[in-house]
Amino acid sequence: MNRTLLFACLCALLLQSCSSDQLADPLDQKLRKVLNQTSPTGDYNYYILPESTSLSSIPQDPRNELTPGKIALGKMLFFETGLALDPTYEFSEGFYSCASCHVPAVGFMPGRVQGIADGGIGFGDNGEMRDRTILYEEDELDVQGARPLSLINVAYTTNTSWSGSFGGGDANEGTEALWDLDEALEVNHLGFSGLETQNIEGLHLHRMIVNPEVVDSLGYKEIYDECFPFTEENERYNEITTSLAISAYLRSLISNEAPFQSWLKGDEDALSDAEKRGGQLFFGKAGCFRCHSSPALNNADNFYALGVNNLYETGEAFNTGPDDQRNFGRGFFTKKEDDMHKFKVPQLYNVAEGTHFFHGSSKTTMHDVVRYFNLGIPENSLVPAENIASQFHPLNMTEGEVDDLVLFLEKSLVDENIERYAPTSVLSGNCFPNNDPASRVALGCE
Ligand code: HEC
Ligand code: HEC
Repeated sequence: MNRTLLFACLCALLLQSCSSDQLADPLDQKLRKVLNQTSPTGDYNYYILPESTSLSSIPQDPRNELTPGKIALGKMLFFETGLALDPTYEFSEGFYSCASCHVPAVGFMPGRVQGIADGGIGFGDNGEMRDRTILYEEDELDVQGARPLSLINVAYTTNTSWSGSFGGGDANEGTEALWDLDEALEVNHLGFSGLETQNIEGLHLHRMIVNPEVVDSLGYKEIYDECFPFTEENERYNEITTSLAISAYLRSLISNEAPFQSWLKGDEDALSDAEKRGGQLFFGKAGCFRCHSSPALNNADNFYALGVNNLYETGEAFNTGPDDQRNFGRGFFTKKEDDMHKFKVPQLYNVAEGTHFFHGSSKTTMHDVVRYFNLGIPENSLVPAENIASQFHPLNMTEGEVDDLVLFLEKSLVDENIERYAPTSVLSGNCFPNNDPASRVALGCE
């Protein structure tokens, strides 16, 4: 062989071994292949989530451009118990925050069967010990008839809530007539995206008050001024700007350090063999990708009925029952029989950190969730058979396959460093996410 040829061969070899496109392990090859096949772009890179600092790569509302300032402000306001100024009883002032029901360590879910803000007491380690104070009647509590959704990767959802009722665009185009039927949906007329819209209403619903006096007394005035320099001063310290800041923060909650993300970016050792098999099942035989199809593994466009039980059926939830509008999902919003019992397809990162699964908290382990999909038999006889998703059917996975898929959900999709998104303090200096006496002890504030 002449020297030039030898040199060319060496170069080719080197290039091949260095290029991240070449995978030696057949398990990696197979996983890459199913990802290429299932992604709408034909390329596994579709599933790579953006860096939290690469703000322009994160899906956003054109009327709420992401800025580091707004994200930093929202990061405090979301946990700020100082906003809890409209409780049922005055003694609860300053006791709760958004994060009472969306706790970072448990996937921004409540860590128990149902979220309780006003009228709740205690925290435990991650919300599991929170309960109703006996000083509140059930119907005086701030609780809802569905489990709080995870807020991780929420930038990938367009119309928010389990029924997708917030936000006037996307799946809700043409639903204007429905907004006036429900006072809570009047905010859709403001023309923001779903997330920004819901969070304006969320501040009212969760009994918080924001006005110039409150913003000033808690110490946030200057930061609002920096974040919203082009907003008229008489409109700068209200629910809208507060929602924009909180929404900007929530959009930055990207699970980009999950092992599956590292694997996608070229670190083949980030996943174990069992997790790689689990990933192949998710994007292959188990068919999960048919509904959980976005980069965050949610689905912003379609709502499905899996026939799961509702929250009241756990027997552990407050102030909900068979007639609760939240049991009907999308159908409650659209009033169409066809949409009854259909729910949004939630994102799946860090959901395994939670304690209860599905809108009605009917499952408490990931094994039970995956076995439910594997069996493909609805547990709730009240859901009409014709509304159940056609993709919900027996999957014939072996016990071993179920284990692998569970591992994919519990390890590959869990960003272990999610606490980077929680603040170390809020400007009021209050205890957070809760500030009632029992929580203060649990949280080490006493
Ligand atoms: C009392 C518990 C509770 C508190 C406090 C709370 N939430 Fe929620 N959150 C929920 C529940 C329950 C849902 C699902 C409700 C539904 O879909 O009907 C939810 C859903 C959401 C969603 C929709 C996510 C999606 O994927 O569609 C967003 C966004 C959200 N909450 C933000 C907030 C913000 C911001 C605050 C503070 C202003 C807050 N929440 C306070 C219980 C709570
Ligand atoms: C027909 C579409 C569809 C398919 C197929 C599907 N899902 Fe889902 N998934 C949903 C919907 C809709 C929900 C919410 C249902 C509810 O709570 O009422 C959900 C909820 C979940 C949850 C609970 C999330 C939470 O916040 O509680 C997990 C975990 C999950 N799916 C994993 C999977 C896995 C694993 C597979 C494959 C075996 C799968 N899904 C297949 C539509 C689907």
